[in-house]
Amino acid sequence: MREPKNTYLSDYRPPSHHITHCELVFDIFDEKTIVSNTMKILALDKENRSLLLNGKGLELLSLKCNGIEIDTESYLQNDTGLKLLNLPADPCTISVVTAIYPKQNTNLEGLYVSGDIYCTQNEPEGFRRISYFLDRPDNMTVFTTTVIADRERFPILLSNGNMIEKGSVGDARHFVKWHDPFVKPSYLFALVAGDLDVFSDSFVTSSRRSVDLNIYVDKGNRHRCSYAMRSLKAAMKWDEKEYGREYDLDVYNIVAVDSFNMGAMENKGLNIFNSHYVLADEEHATDQDFMGIESVIAHEYFHNWTGNRITCRDWFQLTLKEGLTVFRDQCFSADMNSPVVQRIKDVKMLQQRQFAEDAGPTAHPVKPDHYIEINNFYTATVYEKGAEVIRMLHTFMGPEKFRRGMDRYFILFDGQAVRTEDFIFALTQDCRIDIEQFKLWYTQERTPVLYVDEKYDAENREYTLYLTQIIPKSVEGKEQKPYLA
Ligand code: SER
Ligand code: ZN
Repeated sequence: MREPKNTYLSDYRPPSHHITHCELVFDIFDEKTIVSNTMKILALDKENRSLLLNGKGLELLSLKCNGIEIDTESYLQNDTGLKLLNLPADPCTISVVTAIYPKQNTNLEGLYVSGDIYCTQNEPEGFRRISYFLDRPDNMTVFTTTVIADRERFPILLSNGNMIEKGSVGDARHFVKWHDPFVKPSYLFALVAGDLDVFSDSFVTSSRRSVDLNIYVDKGNRHRCSYAMRSLKAAMKWDEKEYGREYDLDVYNIVAVDSFNMGAMENKGLNIFNSHYVLADEEHATDQDFMGIESVIAHEYFHNWTGNRITCRDWFQLTLKEGLTVFRDQCFSADMNSPVVQRIKDVKMLQQRQFAEDAGPTAHPVKPDHYIEINNFYTATVYEKGAEVIRMLHTFMGPEKFRRGMDRYFILFDGQAVRTEDFIFALTQDCRIDIEQFKLWYTQERTPVLYVDEKYDAENREYTLYLTQIIPKSVEGKEQKPYLA
């Protein structure tokens, strides 16, 4: 067996090149899908003429640089990627055509067929199964996507951004072209093709722009969308009021189908959900189901600013978007329902799931510093403990300073891929908190235990509170430091 290989945060290096634009054409046929990918590439390090693009299980059909076929001596290809050896120092265009086999894709990453629907799941590293790319979150690109498929079987063709063109291709096929003007990493790329019903509405933003809202569902489920739509509109309004965050595209599409196997995914302008998290009707759903829908719809919506507009530099920073977005969805649910009941629910969940994880052999810090498989780090620690850490800052700072700090975060880092340190820096710039010590919450693991004792001296009318922290050792037996003293 091959030794599992660790990836370390300390090995992070910025990319040598930047893919500024990516134009994709998906030609969907029964057996395979042909993906044509035209990338504008800019060298960030002019000395470095070679570029390694990630790619997994791809069948290479054609490879060109500035329109000219690249000869076989100028690239290396294996099952993890494509290394271009002699790139020009000036900005260039690389066009790569690959064949992929979505029906045979049982990894459920990249583009796959489930039921009669084509859909994608690219977080964290699925895009490399679609095309050769810098499949890392610190490469942020403007994507334009054309999807071509049989008109009868796939009347709905969706991707990120705004729809800019559609039309016929011969007698039986049609195309839809999408453009997303906002830069994003490849993990937020999405595509859906199928025959779906749609439930539509609209929302007028605080600057009076009208946004089309669509929930696409399996045939026959249209009547079960109204609660999700109501929740979406409430979330859009709440983010404007509480954080000054307005939605930015002309359309917000949600796809909620039985065959999507991840829970939910915040792809830019095209969220994809398992139908369980979206569909409900008064006759069958419980109060819990309704509250769950409200919270998940809001969570994915809130990612538009905390995750998409500002994303993670690398996957060690996952809590940057997840801890913060869980905190935001918890506050939203508290405002929509009872704050006390919501808090009890969140704490119960933390105790049951996160405390258990933190006490076991897989305990890890909110911001881990190494991993073998990043897919295993979508955990209660990264999500829920990550949210609690932000809640602590909210408590220290108070709501006004917290909001000012969040405004600063959005102003400083919009359109960028950043680290948790950058978030804390922006948030706490005008506060007197020992940030270096506070950061221990991000880098240490296990749950500290706090003993509280008190004494009242009636004669001197003096009350003393004694607090003792018991700091557990790390999983590997290392001593850890006390938290805020
Ligand atoms: N990014 C997704 C989410 O948290 C993955 O589950 O919503
Ligand atoms: Zn999330």
